[in-house]
Amino acid sequence: MPEPNDSEPLLEIREVTKRFGALVALNNVSFSIRKGQIFGIAGPNGSGKSTLFNVITGIPFFPTKGDVLLSGRPMHRLRPHEISRAGILRTFQKDAEFATLSARENVYASAVYCGQMPSAQAKDAAEQALDDVSLPSERRTKAASDLSVFERKQLMIASAIAGRPKVLLLDEPAAGLTKPEVSGLRDLIAAVHGRGTTIVLIEHVLPLLLKVSEYLMILNHGAVIASGKPEEVVRNPKVVEAYLGKREAKL
Ligand SMILES: Nc1ncnc2c1ncn2[C@@H]1O[C@H](COP(=O)(O)OP(=O)(O)OP(=O)(O)O)[C@@H](O)[C@H]1O
Ligand SMILES: [Mg+2]
Repeated sequence: MPEPNDSEPLLEIREVTKRFGALVALNNVSFSIRKGQIFGIAGPNGSGKSTLFNVITGIPFFPTKGDVLLSGRPMHRLRPHEISRAGILRTFQKDAEFATLSARENVYASAVYCGQMPSAQAKDAAEQALDDVSLPSERRTKAASDLSVFERKQLMIASAIAGRPKVLLLDEPAAGLTKPEVSGLRDLIAAVHGRGTTIVLIEHVLPLLLKVSEYLMILNHGAVIASGKPEEVVRNPKVVEAYLGKREAKL
């Protein structure tokens, strides 16, 4: 398939709905992301942000209705490993590493299973990904459970980028980090983006989200209530009322 023209959307979500019984977790959500963008998503707890990543990646479920397109190619009928191979990879809100495997083994496993790479290529891709997130070489042989909170974030992102995504979906990567560590994470996201990866970032840590996102979308009760330039979106009265409240003053 030819590379998308920069003005064409790389990832397109069209009228996506996800129901859990009577609960409508996503309600007719549409947006598109250009190649090279960092696209931010925020919204109150339970507003459907992680569900959006779940239905895009097919892990662990698909939309009830609507289309997910990568460079115009429908993703929503593919199996999860086919979607990751097509170029959409994600991190999870909760720790998802293999605790007893070393950092290097974790990233290698991800390159093999998510990137669908043969062994030798996966080894190279894993090492490159660990270099890209600057995890020191002496830490790469440590079990994931022995890494610090920040090192586990490095590992999480390395595991996702080892599969060479076109679009990287990050679900609240700053959770649990101290302020200096959030700055470190910002540098890490900038570095991954600088190497050509399009990024979708869900984040409650607004100083980070607003600093890195070129475009911001706010979900509330599964629906998009505002989207556009971050500095304009945070001033939108609907966003202040539904999400920011008193936090607005501190931005
Ligand atoms: N597998 C599921 N079965 C039933 N309900 C679910 C399931 N997954 C999510 N939900 C519900 O869907 C809604 C959206 O949840 P989701 O996890 O997407 O929110 P979120 O915006 O990521 O919240 P947070 O900021 O707390 O991470 C919530 O009401 C949640 O309880
Ligand atoms: Mg979530």
